Amino acid sequence: MYKKMNNVESIKMLEFVENGDDRGNLVVIEGDRDVPFEIKRVFYIYGSDTDIVRGSHANLKTEFVLVNVAGKSKVKIKDGLGNEIIYSLNRPKTGLYIPKMVWKEMYGFSEDSVLLCLASEHYDASEYIREYEVYEELVKKQRM
Ligand code: TYD
Repeated sequence: MYKKMNNVESIKMLEFVENGDDRGNLVVIEGDRDVPFEIKRVFYIYGSDTDIVRGSHANLKTEFVLVNVAGKSKVKIKDGLGNEIIYSLNRPKTGLYIPKMVWKEMYGFSEDSVLLCLASEHYDASEYIREYEVYEELVKKQRM
């Protein structure tokens, strides 16, 4: 169970509408409608071995929605206060909303995993915090 939370409280699973008919399925994700931000960037991660850990960063500004459009993976979230939670992504119609200033690690990729990532900001390497100790310090400062 979480103790006192910060941004982690706003993490949520999003269920998208699956427009299915006898031709198959179609999922629509519109910025500011199906996800809580305007989508400025899209990237996807595939071909990661199952023992690989990706991510391992927090973002000062960017919010994300992650969707395993194929296969599956896991996302470990840490809040910098000693709490962590693991989400399993395994459906093309389910997204994980991740706010800014949340530590995330993606791992457990299936061979067929395609992890679609929608982002609220353009890429800016300087807003990525890649050292956990630095992230922890920032979280502590923000709570003071
Ligand atoms: P990285 O942030 O390490 O990927 P992960 O999502 O697994 O944490 O990014 C891998 C490389 O791709 C790195 O050199 C930065 C580059 N990159 C961009 O140029 N633009 C982007 O939007 C992203 C996410 C990464």
